[in-house]
Amino acid sequence: MIERGSPRRIAIFGTGSYTPERVVDNEWFTQFIDTSDEWIVQRTGMHQRRWASEEQTTSDLAVEAARNALDAAGWSAEQLDFILVGTCTPDNLLPNTAQHVHHKLQCRRDCGAIDVINACSSFTYALTLITSMIRSGQVGRALVIGAEKLSCFMNLKDRTSCILFGDAAGAACVGAAPEESRSDILVCRYGTDFDYESLNIAAGGSRSPASHETVEQGDHFVRMNGRAIYKFAVNTLTNEVRGVCEETGIEVGELACIIPHQVNIRIIHSAMENLSFPMERVFVNLDKYGNTSAASVPTAIDEAYRAGYFKRGDLIAVCAFGAGKSWGSQLIRW
Ligand code: ACO
Repeated sequence: MIERGSPRRIAIFGTGSYTPERVVDNEWFTQFIDTSDEWIVQRTGMHQRRWASEEQTTSDLAVEAARNALDAAGWSAEQLDFILVGTCTPDNLLPNTAQHVHHKLQCRRDCGAIDVINACSSFTYALTLITSMIRSGQVGRALVIGAEKLSCFMNLKDRTSCILFGDAAGAACVGAAPEESRSDILVCRYGTDFDYESLNIAAGGSRSPASHETVEQGDHFVRMNGRAIYKFAVNTLTNEVRGVCEETGIEVGELACIIPHQVNIRIIHSAMENLSFPMERVFVNLDKYGNTSAASVPTAIDEAYRAGYFKRGDLIAVCAFGAGKSWGSQLIRW
């Protein structure tokens, strides 16, 4: 029984993920752009990604992942006190995606529901927020979700970005740990280093409201300067994993598993080389799903746990980074 009311340790009781059925392989893009399977595999490590159907919304993906997480935790939706959805591809600008999820899961009226909008680091930011809310006694049981339908924002004329992204959702049931448990979210780190130009969706907000002109210019699509982000990505992954370990005085080698943002296999390899950490203990699913932004880390956590990469009591580090530039990381005793 989870009770509210006092500071305590935090546990992830269950995780779940969902990826849409439609598989989009590298070859498919050659119909629209000058690219090849060989280029994409060599430069990114991606072989395919999943794209949602036209009817599916981000909250639909989130709900599928949420149900799997609730099943794994043995919780019911009525028990939830709070839902956080990390996303940069919400169902609508208003109302937020978390409220769609709240409605679809038929949660209690006094269960809070908000979005955390911070591109690829949204889920790690959401996990940080819920850690504080549980630790303070405000919340007993929470659902933290990362969900994206990025395929809607891909410009099929832009070979530098459209091949990279996929749709998915991952969810975690997070709550106060039982007395005897060693589980905890030990360290939460985050930061930002403002950079608008490297990665943005320019139109649709107050800076550039949607108009015929913005649509004609393709300003409602993701635009990215991959080369400009590459170094930031390697450095952030390296420094953040090192950082969460240093804050608790453990060696990086003591980690059972590292769950990096599923961004590019070369970026992950470079960072792990910097850390002298063996790739066998790093979970990678970008070959199947591409970069799913906020869904990347929770989907990977779910698949890694189910595949036996770590077990209860193990230490894991997670790290995501993205547009902004922003980053978020955690050290978790599972
Ligand atoms: N197919 C074929 N050629 C391509 C493609 C493509 N899909 N895309 C780019 N090219 C070309 C470029 O035009 C360039 O040609 P040029 O030399 O004639 O100018 C050449 O390939 C090399 O381009 P680079 O951009 O230097 O390629 P790079 O090795 O850097 O790989 C990539 C590009 C995969 C985007 C890489 O830079 C990357 O992964 N960057 C990080 C991106 C990232 O971290 N994004 C997300 C973080 S934030 C978030 O997740 C929301």
